[in-house]
Amino acid sequence: MTARRRFITFEGPEGSGKSTQLRMLAERLRTSGLDVLETQEPGGTPIGVQIRHVLLDAKNRELCPTAELLLMFASRAQNVDQLILPALSAGRTVLSDRFTDSTLVYQGVGRGLGADVVYELDRIACRGLVPDLTLLIDIDAETGLARAHRRSARTEDSDTRMEDQDIGFHRRVREAYRQLAADESRVRLIDGSQTREAVAEQVWQAVKPLIGT
Ligand code: TMP
Repeated sequence: MTARRRFITFEGPEGSGKSTQLRMLAERLRTSGLDVLETQEPGGTPIGVQIRHVLLDAKNRELCPTAELLLMFASRAQNVDQLILPALSAGRTVLSDRFTDSTLVYQGVGRGLGADVVYELDRIACRGLVPDLTLLIDIDAETGLARAHRRSARTEDSDTRMEDQDIGFHRRVREAYRQLAADESRVRLIDGSQTREAVAEQVWQAVKPLIGT
């Protein structure tokens, strides 16, 4: 019998709390005895981290939507080849903070580049790798952005180039995510406005069938 593959992604608008949830889940899975790889997009690998700086630096205002799209997939291709596929082949559980669904909603819908081009690049960069489960932490655009701005102020980071987009952009992103959850059974919609413990419990209920406990 072949072991069950576990590639789990977290998605959500700005300030949804998904990164915190990913860390909490990783800890819980490790306690259950699983070998877990955590990764992030854009980022994950050393090359991906450099691409992330280009993408998120608020000074890079002239970055055009197509270059943004290609850089997202450049980071992803590196992440898939260097980290994700080797880890899955070794039987590890992989948790990724964002994956192609982000590109679908941010560049495909938010920037208006369309879904077709995103699927085409996904075919090249990911070669058929689709998450087994996607946890979509849902939050309305206003609440999420306010949280993200408070976090930037706390850490003395400036807002990222994406956070700087207008509210209409972030509303389109959120609606596209909700549509995706309605269309795809692998995507579980979780209410991110609850306490983080309540969100973590819902995450756990969704993940449990995949780990067989
Ligand atoms: P993060 O702050 O959740 O790490 O995400 C970084 C930003 O990059 C966030 O604003 C979403 C954006 N993004 C895209 O626009 N397209 C993508 O494909 C990915 C992975 C992230």
